[in-house]
Amino acid sequence: MNYYIHTYGCQMNIHDSEKIAGILEKMGYVCCDDVKLADVVVFNTCCIRETAEQKIYGHIGSLKKLKKAKPNLIAVVCGCMSQQEGVPQQIRKSYPYVDVILGTANLGLLEQSILQAKNKKKFVNTEFLGYTEEDFTQKRTSFPNAWVNINYGCNNFCTYCIVPYVRGRERSRQMSDVVAEVRTLVEQGYKEITLLGQNVNSYGKDLPNGENFAKLLLEIAKIPGKFRVRFMSSHPKDLSDEVIDAVASCPNICNNIHLPVQSGSTNILAKMNRRYTREKYLEQITKIRAKLPNVGITTDIMVGFPGETEQDFLDTLDLVQQAKFSSAFCFVYSRRKGTPAYSMENQVPYAVKKSRIVQLNACQNQVTKEISKSMVGKVFEVLVEGQNTSYKDCMCGRTESGRLVNFKCDQTYVGKFVNVLVERATSATLWGKVVEED
Ligand code: 5AD
Ligand code: SF4
Repeated sequence: MNYYIHTYGCQMNIHDSEKIAGILEKMGYVCCDDVKLADVVVFNTCCIRETAEQKIYGHIGSLKKLKKAKPNLIAVVCGCMSQQEGVPQQIRKSYPYVDVILGTANLGLLEQSILQAKNKKKFVNTEFLGYTEEDFTQKRTSFPNAWVNINYGCNNFCTYCIVPYVRGRERSRQMSDVVAEVRTLVEQGYKEITLLGQNVNSYGKDLPNGENFAKLLLEIAKIPGKFRVRFMSSHPKDLSDEVIDAVASCPNICNNIHLPVQSGSTNILAKMNRRYTREKYLEQITKIRAKLPNVGITTDIMVGFPGETEQDFLDTLDLVQQAKFSSAFCFVYSRRKGTPAYSMENQVPYAVKKSRIVQLNACQNQVTKEISKSMVGKVFEVLVEGQNTSYKDCMCGRTESGRLVNFKCDQTYVGKFVNVLVERATSATLWGKVVEED
Protein backbone atom coordinates (compact mmCIF):
# COMPACT_ATOMS: atom_id res chain seq x y z
CA MET A 1 0.00 0.00 0.00
CA ASN A 2 1.43 3.38 -1.07
CA TYR A 3 1.05 6.95 0.07
CA TYR A 4 1.65 10.18 -1.79
CA ILE A 5 1.90 13.56 -0.05
CA HIS A 6 1.57 16.85 -1.89
CA THR A 7 2.92 19.66 0.30
CA TYR A 8 2.08 23.30 -0.37
CA GLY A 9 3.44 26.39 1.34
CA CYS A 10 6.11 27.04 3.92
CA GLN A 11 8.70 25.08 5.91
CA MET A 12 6.17 24.58 8.67
CA ASN A 13 4.07 22.55 6.23
CA ILE A 14 7.09 20.69 4.88
CA HIS A 15 7.87 19.65 8.43
CA ASP A 16 4.23 18.73 9.16
CA SER A 17 4.39 16.47 6.10
CA GLU A 18 7.32 14.68 7.73
CA LYS A 19 5.04 13.96 10.67
CA ILE A 20 2.27 12.79 8.31
CA ALA A 21 4.74 10.50 6.51
CA GLY A 22 5.85 9.10 9.88
CA ILE A 23 2.27 8.27 10.85
CA LEU A 24 1.52 6.63 7.48
CA GLU A 25 4.71 4.55 7.54
CA LYS A 26 3.89 3.36 11.05
CA MET A 27 0.57 2.18 9.61
CA GLY A 28 2.48 0.17 6.99
CA TYR A 29 2.18 2.49 3.99
CA VAL A 30 5.17 3.05 1.71
CA CYS A 31 6.11 6.40 0.13
CA CYS A 32 5.66 6.74 -3.63
CA ASP A 33 6.28 9.71 -5.90
CA ASP A 34 3.59 8.99 -8.47
CA VAL A 35 0.09 9.91 -7.38
CA LYS A 36 -1.35 7.25 -9.74
CA LEU A 37 0.26 4.50 -7.67
CA ALA A 38 -1.04 5.81 -4.34
CA ASP A 39 -3.63 4.22 -2.06
CA VAL A 40 -3.63 7.28 0.20
CA VAL A 41 -3.19 10.79 -1.20
CA VAL A 42 -2.61 13.63 1.26
CA PHE A 43 -2.88 17.30 0.32
CA ASN A 44 -1.12 19.28 3.03
CA THR A 45 -2.47 22.69 2.13
CA CYS A 46 -1.62 26.40 2.38
CA CYS A 47 -3.95 29.40 2.23
CA ILE A 48 -1.58 32.34 2.66
CA ARG A 49 -2.41 33.66 -0.81
CA GLU A 50 -5.26 33.07 -3.23
CA THR A 51 -2.91 31.68 -5.88
CA ALA A 52 -1.96 28.80 -3.53
CA GLU A 53 -5.60 28.03 -2.85
CA GLN A 54 -6.59 28.02 -6.52
CA LYS A 55 -3.78 25.64 -7.36
CA ILE A 56 -4.82 23.28 -4.57
CA TYR A 57 -8.48 23.29 -5.56
CA GLY A 58 -7.35 22.43 -9.10
CA HIS A 59 -5.30 19.50 -7.81
CA ILE A 60 -8.11 18.22 -5.58
CA GLY A 61 -10.41 18.49 -8.59
CA SER A 62 -8.12 16.33 -10.68
CA LEU A 63 -8.41 13.53 -8.10
CA LYS A 64 -11.95 12.83 -9.31
CA LYS A 65 -10.71 10.79 -12.29
CA LEU A 66 -8.21 8.87 -10.17
CA LYS A 67 -10.83 8.11 -7.58
CA LYS A 68 -13.14 6.76 -10.29
CA ALA A 69 -10.44 4.46 -11.59
CA LYS A 70 -9.48 3.41 -8.08
CA PRO A 71 -12.52 3.59 -5.76
CA ASN A 72 -10.54 2.50 -2.68
CA LEU A 73 -8.17 5.45 -2.97
CA ILE A 74 -8.29 7.52 0.23
CA ALA A 75 -8.10 11.31 -0.25
CA VAL A 76 -7.01 13.43 2.70
CA VAL A 77 -7.03 17.24 2.81
CA CYS A 78 -5.28 18.80 5.80
CA GLY A 79 -3.23 21.87 6.74
CA CYS A 80 -4.02 25.56 6.73
CA MET A 81 -6.68 25.67 4.02
CA SER A 82 -8.90 23.11 5.74
CA GLN A 83 -8.67 25.10 8.99
CA GLN A 84 -10.25 28.15 7.35
CA GLU A 85 -13.80 28.96 8.22
CA GLY A 86 -16.29 27.51 5.74
CA VAL A 87 -13.68 25.58 3.75
CA PRO A 88 -14.47 22.04 5.04
CA GLN A 89 -18.11 22.59 4.06
CA GLN A 90 -17.01 23.90 0.66
CA ILE A 91 -14.80 20.85 0.06
CA ARG A 92 -17.58 18.47 1.15
CA LYS A 93 -19.93 20.13 -1.31
CA SER A 94 -17.69 20.59 -4.35
CA TYR A 95 -15.38 17.60 -3.93
CA PRO A 96 -17.54 14.91 -2.31
CA TYR A 97 -14.93 12.23 -3.07
CA VAL A 98 -12.55 13.68 -0.44
CA ASP A 99 -12.61 11.19 2.45
CA VAL A 100 -10.78 12.99 5.26
CA ILE A 101 -10.52 16.67 6.23
CA LEU A 102 -8.26 17.58 9.16
CA GLY A 103 -7.24 20.95 10.62
CA THR A 104 -3.74 22.15 11.48
CA ALA A 105 -3.78 20.84 15.05
CA ASN A 106 -5.38 17.45 14.36
CA LEU A 107 -2.60 15.27 13.02
CA GLY A 108 -3.15 13.07 16.06
CA LEU A 109 -6.39 11.95 14.37
CA LEU A 110 -4.82 10.96 11.04
CA GLU A 111 -4.51 7.22 11.72
CA GLN A 112 -8.05 6.98 13.07
CA SER A 113 -9.43 8.98 10.15
CA ILE A 114 -7.78 6.73 7.55
CA LEU A 115 -9.06 3.59 9.27
CA GLN A 116 -12.54 5.10 9.20
CA ALA A 117 -12.19 6.08 5.53
CA LYS A 118 -11.22 2.48 4.73
CA ASN A 119 -14.67 1.55 6.01
CA LYS A 120 -16.14 4.07 3.57
CA LYS A 121 -17.03 6.61 6.24
CA LYS A 122 -16.08 10.26 5.81
CA PHE A 123 -14.03 11.89 8.57
CA VAL A 124 -14.05 15.65 9.14
CA ASN A 125 -12.46 17.25 12.21
CA THR A 126 -11.03 20.76 12.38
CA GLU A 127 -11.50 21.29 16.11
CA PHE A 128 -8.29 22.83 17.43
CA LEU A 129 -7.03 19.82 19.42
CA GLY A 130 -3.26 20.39 19.46
CA TYR A 131 -0.54 17.78 19.82
CA THR A 132 3.01 17.45 21.05
CA GLU A 133 5.95 16.55 18.83
CA GLU A 134 6.66 13.58 21.07
CA ASP A 135 3.39 12.00 19.81
CA PHE A 136 5.01 11.34 16.43
CA THR A 137 7.92 9.51 14.86
CA GLN A 138 8.83 11.78 11.99
CA LYS A 139 10.09 10.60 8.65
CA ARG A 140 12.73 13.22 7.98
CA THR A 141 13.20 14.09 4.33
CA SER A 142 15.72 16.92 4.22
CA PHE A 143 19.06 15.44 5.38
CA PRO A 144 21.55 16.96 6.22
CA ASN A 145 19.04 19.53 7.47
CA ALA A 146 16.45 18.75 10.12
CA TRP A 147 13.46 20.97 10.91
CA VAL A 148 12.59 21.47 14.56
CA ASN A 149 9.44 23.27 15.72
CA ILE A 150 10.03 25.52 18.70
CA ASN A 151 6.72 27.34 18.80
CA TYR A 152 3.44 27.21 16.93
CA GLY A 153 0.84 29.80 16.02
CA CYS A 154 1.02 33.58 16.04
CA ASN A 155 -0.40 36.37 18.20
CA ASN A 156 0.56 39.27 15.97
CA PHE A 157 -2.48 39.63 13.75
CA CYS A 158 -0.82 41.54 10.93
CA THR A 159 -3.90 42.83 9.14
CA TYR A 160 -3.24 40.97 5.85
CA CYS A 161 -2.40 37.61 7.37
CA ILE A 162 -4.55 34.51 7.72
CA VAL A 163 -1.98 32.58 9.79
CA PRO A 164 -3.20 33.53 13.30
CA TYR A 165 -6.68 32.30 12.33
CA VAL A 166 -5.57 28.95 10.96
CA ARG A 167 -2.58 28.19 13.21
CA GLY A 168 -4.03 29.55 16.45
CA ARG A 169 -2.36 31.40 19.34
CA GLU A 170 1.34 31.12 20.18
CA ARG A 171 2.35 27.97 21.99
CA SER A 172 5.99 27.24 22.88
CA ARG A 173 7.45 23.80 23.34
CA GLN A 174 9.30 23.13 26.59
CA MET A 175 12.94 24.16 26.27
CA SER A 176 14.15 20.77 27.56
CA ASP A 177 12.11 18.98 24.86
CA VAL A 178 13.51 21.14 22.06
CA VAL A 179 17.10 20.74 23.31
CA ALA A 180 16.64 16.98 23.66
CA GLU A 181 15.29 16.73 20.11
CA VAL A 182 18.23 18.70 18.70
CA ARG A 183 20.72 16.60 20.69
CA THR A 184 19.24 13.39 19.28
CA LEU A 185 19.32 14.79 15.73
CA VAL A 186 22.98 15.79 16.07
CA GLU A 187 23.79 12.33 17.43
CA GLN A 188 21.99 10.84 14.42
CA GLY A 189 24.27 12.82 12.09
CA TYR A 190 22.13 15.79 11.06
CA LYS A 191 24.41 18.74 10.35
CA GLU A 192 22.00 21.62 10.11
CA ILE A 193 19.14 22.24 12.49
CA THR A 194 16.53 24.80 11.41
CA LEU A 195 14.40 26.03 14.29
CA LEU A 196 10.89 26.82 13.12
CA GLY A 197 8.26 29.15 14.45
CA GLN A 198 5.89 31.72 12.97
CA ASN A 199 7.77 34.18 15.19
CA VAL A 200 10.75 32.45 16.84
CA ASN A 201 11.56 35.58 18.86
CA SER A 202 8.47 35.25 20.97
CA TYR A 203 9.54 31.76 22.01
CA GLY A 204 9.01 31.27 25.75
CA LYS A 205 6.63 34.16 26.37
CA ASP A 206 3.95 31.63 27.32
CA LEU A 207 6.28 29.46 29.44
CA PRO A 208 6.48 29.90 33.22
CA ASN A 209 10.23 30.10 33.93
CA GLY A 210 11.48 33.10 31.97
CA GLU A 211 12.66 30.99 29.04
CA ASN A 212 13.30 32.99 25.89
CA PHE A 213 14.70 32.51 22.42
CA ALA A 214 18.21 33.74 23.24
CA LYS A 215 18.47 31.25 26.14
CA LEU A 216 17.23 28.47 23.87
CA LEU A 217 19.86 29.31 21.25
CA LEU A 218 22.64 29.32 23.85
CA GLU A 219 21.51 25.92 25.20
CA ILE A 220 21.37 24.41 21.71
CA ALA A 221 24.76 25.84 20.76
CA LYS A 222 26.34 23.95 23.69
CA ILE A 223 25.38 20.54 22.29
CA PRO A 224 28.62 18.77 21.32
CA GLY A 225 29.37 17.92 17.67
CA LYS A 226 29.89 19.76 14.40
CA PHE A 227 26.56 21.17 13.26
CA ARG A 228 24.90 24.47 12.34
CA VAL A 229 21.77 26.13 13.60
CA ARG A 230 19.42 28.34 11.61
CA PHE A 231 16.07 29.80 12.60
CA MET A 232 13.04 31.38 10.99
CA SER A 233 11.10 33.65 11.01
CA SER A 234 11.97 36.66 13.16
CA HIS A 235 9.55 39.53 13.67
CA PRO A 236 11.51 42.81 13.56
CA LYS A 237 9.66 44.16 16.60
CA ASP A 238 10.78 41.18 18.72
CA LEU A 239 14.34 40.47 17.57
CA SER A 240 16.24 41.20 20.78
CA ASP A 241 19.86 42.28 21.33
CA GLU A 242 20.33 39.06 23.30
CA VAL A 243 19.45 37.00 20.23
CA ILE A 244 21.86 38.96 18.03
CA ASP A 245 24.54 38.54 20.74
CA ALA A 246 23.84 34.80 20.90
CA VAL A 247 24.37 34.53 17.14
CA ALA A 248 27.58 36.58 17.44
CA SER A 249 29.00 34.54 20.32
CA CYS A 250 28.18 31.01 19.08
CA PRO A 251 30.12 29.91 16.01
CA ASN A 252 27.63 27.15 15.26
CA ILE A 253 24.65 29.54 14.99
CA CYS A 254 24.57 30.76 11.40
CA ASN A 255 25.07 34.41 10.58
CA ASN A 256 21.81 34.36 8.68
CA ILE A 257 18.67 36.20 9.72
CA HIS A 258 15.33 36.11 7.97
CA LEU A 259 13.68 39.38 8.95
CA PRO A 260 10.46 40.01 7.01
CA VAL A 261 10.02 43.75 6.44
CA GLN A 262 6.80 43.61 4.35
CA SER A 263 6.96 47.29 3.37
CA GLY A 264 9.38 50.21 3.39
CA SER A 265 6.67 52.73 4.20
CA THR A 266 5.89 53.59 7.82
CA ASN A 267 2.38 54.49 6.77
CA ILE A 268 1.72 51.06 5.27
CA LEU A 269 3.51 49.29 8.14
CA ALA A 270 1.06 50.95 10.54
CA LYS A 271 -1.92 49.80 8.45
CA MET A 272 -0.40 46.32 8.43
CA ASN A 273 -0.19 46.41 12.27
CA ARG A 274 3.52 45.56 12.11
CA ARG A 275 4.36 47.75 15.11
CA TYR A 276 7.66 49.12 13.82
CA THR A 277 8.56 52.01 11.55
CA ARG A 278 10.79 52.08 8.51
CA GLU A 279 13.44 53.84 10.62
CA LYS A 280 13.26 51.25 13.42
CA TYR A 281 13.65 48.46 10.88
CA LEU A 282 16.71 50.08 9.31
CA GLU A 283 18.16 50.63 12.81
CA GLN A 284 17.76 46.89 13.46
CA ILE A 285 19.65 46.17 10.22
CA THR A 286 22.47 48.53 11.21
CA LYS A 287 22.69 46.93 14.65
CA ILE A 288 22.76 43.40 13.20
CA ARG A 289 25.48 44.29 10.69
CA ALA A 290 27.58 45.95 13.39
CA LYS A 291 27.53 42.80 15.52
CA LEU A 292 27.55 40.27 12.66
CA PRO A 293 29.72 41.67 9.86
CA ASN A 294 29.33 38.60 7.60
CA VAL A 295 25.60 38.21 8.08
CA GLY A 296 23.18 37.35 5.29
CA ILE A 297 19.85 39.07 5.88
CA THR A 298 16.83 37.88 3.92
CA THR A 299 13.30 39.20 3.96
CA ASP A 300 9.69 38.99 2.80
CA ILE A 301 8.15 41.98 1.04
CA MET A 302 4.65 42.62 -0.17
CA VAL A 303 3.42 45.05 -2.82
CA GLY A 304 -0.10 46.33 -3.34
CA PHE A 305 -1.33 46.38 0.24
CA PRO A 306 -4.58 48.42 0.39
CA GLY A 307 -3.85 52.14 0.18
CA GLU A 308 -0.24 51.67 -1.01
CA THR A 309 0.59 54.82 -2.99
CA GLU A 310 3.34 55.23 -5.55
CA GLN A 311 5.37 57.04 -2.87
CA ASP A 312 4.87 54.17 -0.39
CA PHE A 313 6.12 51.79 -3.05
CA LEU A 314 9.13 54.00 -3.82
CA ASP A 315 9.91 53.91 -0.09
CA THR A 316 9.97 50.11 -0.31
CA LEU A 317 12.36 50.22 -3.27
CA ASP A 318 14.57 52.64 -1.38
CA LEU A 319 14.61 50.43 1.72
CA VAL A 320 15.59 47.44 -0.43
CA GLN A 321 18.56 49.39 -1.70
CA GLN A 322 19.60 50.47 1.79
CA ALA A 323 19.06 47.17 3.58
CA LYS A 324 21.08 45.10 1.07
CA PHE A 325 19.18 41.87 1.59
CA SER A 326 20.98 38.86 0.21
CA SER A 327 17.61 37.76 -1.12
CA ALA A 328 13.94 38.65 -0.74
CA PHE A 329 10.71 36.74 -1.20
CA CYS A 330 8.48 39.28 -2.92
CA PHE A 331 4.71 38.83 -2.99
CA VAL A 332 1.69 40.52 -4.45
CA TYR A 333 -0.80 41.28 -1.66
CA SER A 334 -3.67 38.82 -1.74
CA ARG A 335 -7.02 39.55 -0.08
CA ARG A 336 -7.77 36.95 2.59
CA LYS A 337 -11.35 36.62 3.83
CA GLY A 338 -11.61 37.10 7.57
CA THR A 339 -8.59 39.43 7.86
CA PRO A 340 -9.00 43.19 8.55
CA ALA A 341 -7.21 44.20 5.33
CA TYR A 342 -9.83 42.33 3.30
CA SER A 343 -12.33 45.11 3.84
CA MET A 344 -9.92 48.07 3.79
CA GLU A 345 -10.56 50.85 1.32
CA ASN A 346 -8.38 51.59 -1.69
CA GLN A 347 -7.56 48.05 -2.75
CA VAL A 348 -4.79 48.36 -5.35
CA PRO A 349 -5.71 47.33 -8.93
CA TYR A 350 -4.03 44.16 -10.17
CA ALA A 351 -2.20 45.93 -13.03
CA VAL A 352 -0.53 48.27 -10.52
CA LYS A 353 0.44 45.37 -8.23
CA LYS A 354 1.86 43.50 -11.21
CA SER A 355 3.95 46.44 -12.35
CA ARG A 356 5.25 46.99 -8.78
CA ILE A 357 6.26 43.38 -8.24
CA VAL A 358 8.23 43.40 -11.51
CA GLN A 359 10.08 46.58 -10.43
CA LEU A 360 10.67 45.22 -6.93
CA ASN A 361 12.11 41.95 -8.21
CA ALA A 362 14.39 43.83 -10.61
CA CYS A 363 15.59 46.07 -7.79
CA GLN A 364 16.33 43.16 -5.43
CA ASN A 365 18.01 41.16 -8.22
CA GLN A 366 20.41 44.04 -8.73
CA VAL A 367 21.26 44.06 -5.01
CA THR A 368 21.70 40.26 -4.96
CA LYS A 369 23.93 40.47 -8.02
CA GLU A 370 26.22 42.98 -6.34
CA ILE A 371 26.50 40.82 -3.21
CA SER A 372 27.17 37.76 -5.40
CA LYS A 373 29.95 39.57 -7.27
CA SER A 374 31.58 40.58 -3.98
CA MET A 375 31.76 36.88 -3.01
CA VAL A 376 33.76 35.86 -6.10
CA GLY A 377 37.36 34.94 -5.25
CA LYS A 378 36.55 34.15 -1.62
CA VAL A 379 36.42 30.80 0.16
CA PHE A 380 33.35 29.81 2.18
CA GLU A 381 32.55 26.84 4.34
CA VAL A 382 29.63 25.05 2.72
CA LEU A 383 27.49 22.17 3.93
CA VAL A 384 26.93 19.82 0.96
CA GLU A 385 23.17 19.30 0.60
CA GLY A 386 22.85 17.21 -2.56
CA GLN A 387 22.46 17.36 -6.30
CA ASN A 388 21.38 20.66 -7.81
CA THR A 389 17.86 20.09 -9.16
CA SER A 390 18.46 22.22 -12.28
CA TYR A 391 22.08 21.32 -13.03
CA LYS A 392 22.23 17.58 -12.45
CA ASP A 393 26.00 17.29 -12.83
CA CYS A 394 26.50 19.75 -9.95
CA MET A 395 26.20 19.42 -6.22
CA CYS A 396 25.08 22.33 -4.09
CA GLY A 397 25.19 23.61 -0.56
CA ARG A 398 24.84 26.73 1.50
CA THR A 399 27.30 29.17 3.00
CA GLU A 400 26.80 30.13 6.63
CA SER A 401 25.06 33.29 5.43
CA GLY A 402 22.54 31.16 3.55
CA ARG A 403 23.73 31.57 -0.05
CA LEU A 404 23.43 28.56 -2.35
CA VAL A 405 26.65 27.59 -4.18
CA ASN A 406 27.03 25.04 -6.99
CA PHE A 407 30.19 22.99 -7.34
CA LYS A 408 31.40 19.59 -8.47
CA CYS A 409 32.05 16.89 -5.88
CA ASP A 410 31.25 13.28 -5.19
CA GLN A 411 27.78 12.26 -3.94
CA THR A 412 29.43 10.82 -0.84
CA TYR A 413 30.08 14.38 0.33
CA VAL A 414 26.40 14.98 1.13
CA GLY A 415 26.23 16.01 4.78
CA LYS A 416 29.89 17.04 4.91
CA PHE A 417 31.34 20.50 5.33
CA VAL A 418 33.70 21.55 2.53
CA ASN A 419 35.52 24.76 1.67
CA VAL A 420 34.40 26.21 -1.63
CA LEU A 421 36.15 28.91 -3.62
CA VAL A 422 33.50 30.98 -5.40
CA GLU A 423 34.71 31.37 -8.99
CA ARG A 424 31.82 33.10 -10.71
CA ALA A 425 28.40 34.50 -10.05
CA THR A 426 25.39 34.83 -12.29
CA SER A 427 23.02 37.11 -10.38
CA ALA A 428 21.56 34.90 -7.64
CA THR A 429 23.60 31.80 -8.47
CA LEU A 430 27.13 31.19 -7.25
CA TRP A 431 29.52 28.69 -8.85
CA GLY A 432 32.71 27.42 -7.29
CA LYS A 433 35.11 24.57 -6.65
CA VAL A 434 36.03 22.60 -3.55
CA VAL A 435 39.43 23.56 -2.17
CA GLU A 436 41.58 22.10 0.56
CA GLU A 437 41.63 23.79 3.93
CA ASP A 438 44.72 25.96 4.42
N1 5AD B 1 -0.83 38.36 0.63
C1 5AD B 1 0.44 38.27 0.16
N2 5AD B 1 1.46 37.85 0.90
C2 5AD B 1 1.22 37.49 2.17
N3 5AD B 1 2.04 37.04 3.15
C3 5AD B 1 1.30 36.82 4.25
N4 5AD B 1 0.00 37.11 4.03
C4 5AD B 1 -0.07 37.54 2.73
C5 5AD B 1 -1.12 38.00 1.90
N5 5AD B 1 -2.38 38.10 2.35
C6 5AD B 1 3.48 36.92 2.98
C7 5AD B 1 4.23 37.77 4.00
C8 5AD B 1 4.79 36.74 4.95
C9 5AD B 1 5.00 35.57 4.03
C10 5AD B 1 5.15 34.26 4.72
O1 5AD B 1 3.87 35.59 3.20
O2 5AD B 1 5.26 38.46 3.34
O3 5AD B 1 5.97 37.16 5.58
FE1 SF4 C 1 1.26 36.45 9.72
FE2 SF4 C 1 2.29 38.63 10.91
FE3 SF4 C 1 2.03 36.33 12.31
FE4 SF4 C 1 3.87 36.51 10.37
S1 SF4 C 1 3.83 37.73 12.28
S2 SF4 C 1 2.42 34.79 10.71
S3 SF4 C 1 2.86 37.81 8.86
S4 SF4 C 1 0.35 37.57 11.48
